Amino acid sequence: MTKTWMITGTSSGFGKELAQIVAKQADTNLVATARKTADLDYLDAFDTKHIDKVIMDVTDETAVQAGVAAAKNKFGGIDVLVNNAGLGYFGTIEESNEKDVRKMFEVNVFGLGNVTKAVLPIMRSQKQGLIVNISSALGVTSLPTLGWYSATKFAVEGYSNALRQEVAPLGIQVMNVEPSGARTKWNAGKTAPVEIADYSKFADMVNGASAGVTQAPGNPELIAETIYDFATNHETVPEHLPLGTFATDGIKQELTNTLKDVDEYHDISVGIDK
Ligand SMILES: NC(=O)c1ccc[n+]([C@@H]2O[C@H](COP(=O)([O-])OP(=O)(O)OC[C@H]3O[C@@H](n4cnc5c(N)ncnc54)[C@H](OP(=O)(O)O)[C@@H]3O)[C@@H](O)[C@H]2O)c1
Repeated sequence: MTKTWMITGTSSGFGKELAQIVAKQADTNLVATARKTADLDYLDAFDTKHIDKVIMDVTDETAVQAGVAAAKNKFGGIDVLVNNAGLGYFGTIEESNEKDVRKMFEVNVFGLGNVTKAVLPIMRSQKQGLIVNISSALGVTSLPTLGWYSATKFAVEGYSNALRQEVAPLGIQVMNVEPSGARTKWNAGKTAPVEIADYSKFADMVNGASAGVTQAPGNPELIAETIYDFATNHETVPEHLPLGTFATDGIKQELTNTLKDVDEYHDISVGIDK
């Protein structure tokens, strides 16, 4: 049976890599979304009758609703939604610019929510579907100067964990992908320079943010291939898919630390339930 994928943020990075893999499949339709028409020209090299290009900003609820409705009209449904569109931002918590941080929440959290809300009625009526949320290793653990970014991805994790429980009985699965640093243009996000002397030891992390991601170990093509493989060849997907060495080690360390506290303070904790 022909499947239909919808992927947000396919102008570059993971989204573009994944869109190209999906576009090559003869038995799969692709709904590729971007903010600018020209950013989707690369899809003209594929069989365009299986492709719907949708121009939308994920923060624009009306455009999202219209884009999803157009996709449903063209292909009859949506089987796999990949919520990939997202922004990065480097800065210490204290020095980060509130306007930039709110903008990032609008895209990474509420934008993801807009697209999911528009697609859920389609998946519910189909009684099946897979939602792939591109979270981050930093949705489970955190690093200095990436605290606010991390907060957006922790929000995605909490949202997804609840959504998964709500929609599992309806035949819809939710998989959170948690990559470590990978070589995309994600680093083009804004930064808040370190100006407070007390945080000077973090200045290199912020100043080197652009170079840091271009030199990151993660290969976007392999990340896209892995996501495609899980979404296509696994009947039951994992709830969490850490990708990369930092993701695996960092998440394990974070959960180990949390578990240690949970165990150590177990008696105090359960003692408040009186
Ligand atoms: N690269 C990493 O190290 C890494 C690691 C873990 C997780 N991630 C996550 O992976 C996802 C993809 O990022 P990437 O690394 O592939 O970076 P990327 O190359 O910068 O891609 C980000 C995509 O999101 C789109 N986007 C941004 N704001 C949008 C908006 N308001 N509406 C619609 N689309 C919007 C961008 O479109 P425009 O071209 O129009 O800006 C672009 O297509 C993000 O959620 C990111 O947080 C990245």
